[in-house]
Order: sequence, then structure tokens, then C-alpha cells
Amino acid sequence: MKIIFFFLVTMFVVGCEKTNNESHPANNSSASLDKQLPLIPYPRTVNRFEGDLELKATIDINNSAQGSPTALLALNRVLTKFNITQDNTSATKLNIQLTDDPSLGLEGYRLSIAQSIELSANTDAGLFYAVQTFSQLLANQDEHKPSLPNVEIIDNPTFGWRGNMLDVARSFLPVEYLKSHIDRMATFKLNRLHLHLTDDQGWRVEIKGYPKLTEVGGGSSVEGGRSGYYTQEQIRELVKYAQERQVVLVPEVDLPGHTQAAIASYNKLACDDVTNLTTYSGVKVGFSKLCLTKPETTYPFVKDVLSQIVELFPSKYIHIGGDEIKDPLYPEFIGRATRIVEELGRTAIAWEEGSVADNKTDVLLQLWNDKYDIQPALDKGHQIILSPCSYTYFDHGNYQGQPNTYDWCRKEGVPLERAYQLNPQQFSQVKGVESAMWSELVHTDETADNRLWPRLLATSELAWTIESNRDYKAFLLRVNSILPILDDMNIHYYSLPKLAGE
Ligand code: ACM
Repeated sequence: MKIIFFFLVTMFVVGCEKTNNESHPANNSSASLDKQLPLIPYPRTVNRFEGDLELKATIDINNSAQGSPTALLALNRVLTKFNITQDNTSATKLNIQLTDDPSLGLEGYRLSIAQSIELSANTDAGLFYAVQTFSQLLANQDEHKPSLPNVEIIDNPTFGWRGNMLDVARSFLPVEYLKSHIDRMATFKLNRLHLHLTDDQGWRVEIKGYPKLTEVGGGSSVEGGRSGYYTQEQIRELVKYAQERQVVLVPEVDLPGHTQAAIASYNKLACDDVTNLTTYSGVKVGFSKLCLTKPETTYPFVKDVLSQIVELFPSKYIHIGGDEIKDPLYPEFIGRATRIVEELGRTAIAWEEGSVADNKTDVLLQLWNDKYDIQPALDKGHQIILSPCSYTYFDHGNYQGQPNTYDWCRKEGVPLERAYQLNPQQFSQVKGVESAMWSELVHTDETADNRLWPRLLATSELAWTIESNRDYKAFLLRVNSILPILDDMNIHYYSLPKLAGE
């Protein structure tokens, strides 16, 4: 009942948008938040003009976008999805072209719909995002009278890092889930999938020369969770799949703590007095570490692993973890590990605690405790990825007391509204925004969907949309109106009544 009500409210607002459009243009950027088109993340500038472009089952595509493989693949997928066939005699024209417009930057685009449909951008990425917006407009058509609103959209993201972290270490997520997740992320212009590949409960990536990491570490999981690992071939396949969707896979090997799975696989990695040398399926943190007083054992291991990680993942940034460990040699370890990454031609990311080390300033720091004093690191010149737990930890409840969720960071959980309230503009030197789904309590694909959606739509919007276009009520209306897109992608999102604030 409530679902129908909110759907009708949404239809009404969107309907008003379509009929009350005498002015010319009708909807300019932040001027009318209540009349936003049903798009997520909301574009920078939207000028709605009178009238609609009627759509037929055919379209004539004029492609001046050679060298834009991901955009053209995406456009083909969209046409197939909406049963539109290409026909050069069609009255509906779509021009997709590369342009040279500095104001659009590396990921921005222009999408205009009038007599014809025009998509332009400086890059393949920009055109890819133009196609995503086009697809969201297509999804919102009135099925009895297929048409698109006459509109000019000029768009550009706030941050280049629009991320989500999946903890595949505590409980494994299959390749097929990751592929769906990449598709879903790309639909909403998220572009960094951070894979937390190793932790106490599991080691999830094949490392040649260290077979026990996956035989032993890959065979364990948190209690009730899933074990497993990705072969190097599967990682390469995933990397390619993600590249085709403008998503960068950012690997994390969590070091030097959170390493029980590695120690259980190769006992020599532990200090000689350590007795807990077997796999672990509990949920405690902070009890394991690579032995930092055995550098002759520890650093060759770290170097071997990171060398193969770099071979597998083309990401400029490689995450070395660095969270939740106490050891007098910790700062030295982080400094050495970040330099190993640098010697391998990449740049390291560390969780916030890594800021105590003597790192080069291009090392990225990921803020996860709301109250952590990151200022000294900012003063040194580091950039940060924003993942403050009270806004972005999606292992916390969609509502207070949701079964199988955490509340250690915020007892009320992280409802959608809270997730939307993070204001990245309150921080400085921000590289981007990333929400995190830890999996101690997330053991199935359906539960993962429930924890991730619709809250990931908030991540998308915080990372892409300018502050003046963000408004929770307007966002919620748009979320409700794009639910068919989530349904179409078979997402088992957290259900609507509570989402509507019940
Ligand atoms: C973390 O939540 N330990 C990064």
C-alpha cells in the first residue's frame, strides 16, 4: 500500500515536471529541487525545455566517438535493453561524439534532447556517463507514450573517486556477484570498487608460489559465511569487466594486522612466541600480525604478494590496510610497505592509522573513524578518502536494531538519511567518498544487496553531485522513482516502507 502511495507521489511530481514546463528553460540546476528529474546522481545543470521527443522503436545513430569503446558498448547495451534497433532511416537521430570542451573535464558530458539526441564529452568516460544518464531517462518513460523530455544536461562529477568497499575476506562474494555489482555501480556513476581481499578470516586472491594462502586461507571464513578465493585468471576477467564499465578495482591486502589467514597458511609469518596459528572464524579484531621483528621473513612475503597484486590490478592505487594493530614497529612497517608499492610503480593507500608513518605525501589515507585526528596528515599534504563509519559503514543497520547489523560506530545504525547527510565539503583535501560493507554479518548475496541498496545511491550522489543540488527530500523522491531500475537489476534492496521514514 505504502509502496503504491510513494510511487504515485513520485509519478505526480515527475508528471508535474512533464506538463508544467511552459517556461523556457523550466528547471535550472539548484533552482527547483522539488522538480528534479528522476536521475541519480543528480547532474550539475539541468535545463528542462518545453515538450518531449517522441520515441520510436528505431534510432539512427551517428557515431563520431571512435576511440570510446566503453561508451559505445554501453550504448549498445542500453538499446538492446529498451528494444530499440538501429536503422539509418529512422526519424529519431542520436549523435554521439567526442568534443574538446575544457569545462567538461575528464568525466563530464553534455546530453541534449530536442529534435535529436546529442551526447558529447571529451573522453570515453564522459560519454559512458552520458549514456548512463540517457538510460535512466529511458527507464522513466511513460510506456503508453514513449518519449524523452526536451532537456539539456551539462554534467561533471565533484570527485574522481566515487567508491564502494566490499569485504570479501570475512565472507566471500562470488565472481558473478561482483560482476553484477560492477554493473550496478556503473549505472549510478560509481567508479572505484575497493576489494578488501585479505583478513583474519580469509585470504581471497591466488598468489603464485604461496599455494597455502588459498588452500588454507581461502578455505576459511567467518562463522556462517562463505569461503572461497579468486584465481588470478578470474581477477583478470573481473578487471576487464570493470574496465569496460569505467570501474577501477582497487585491491587491498590488509597488513600487517588482520593477517590470521596468512599466518595459518604460513606459520613462519608469526613471531615465534605466537601460539594461535590456525584459521579463525570469529569476529574479533586486532589480535594477529605479521612478525615485524623478523624482517627477513616478513618483507620478502609482503614484496612477493604486492608484486603479484600490482601485476593483476592496473589500479594506480594499491591499498595496504594498516588498520587496528598495535606494535612498536608499526610506523616503520607502513613506511616500508608504502615504499614497496612505490617501487612497484604505484601509490599506496592506508587506513587512517597509517598516517603515523613517514610516508610520501602522495600516499592516500582513508578516514574511517569519525573522530580520528587526520589534520596532521592533511597538514603534511596527504589527500583523504572519506569513509567515516557513522555515515558510510553499511554493515550498520538500515534502521536501529536491524538484525545482523553492527552498531558499534552509531547505535542508531546508518539509515539512508544519515548516509546522505555526510558533507564531504566540510573536509579538505578530499580525493573522494567511499562507503564500506564489512561482511562479518553479511553472508549471502541477498543480505549484501540489503545492506548496500539503496544506501549506495547516497554514496553516488555525495561523490558526484554538487552540494547545492543535494536535498534529502528531493533525493528520496528520486530514489523512489528509480526503484524500477533497481528491480530491473534484480537488487534485493532494503524495502521501501522503512525507506520512506516509517
Ligand atoms: C576498519 O574499519 N577497521 C577500517
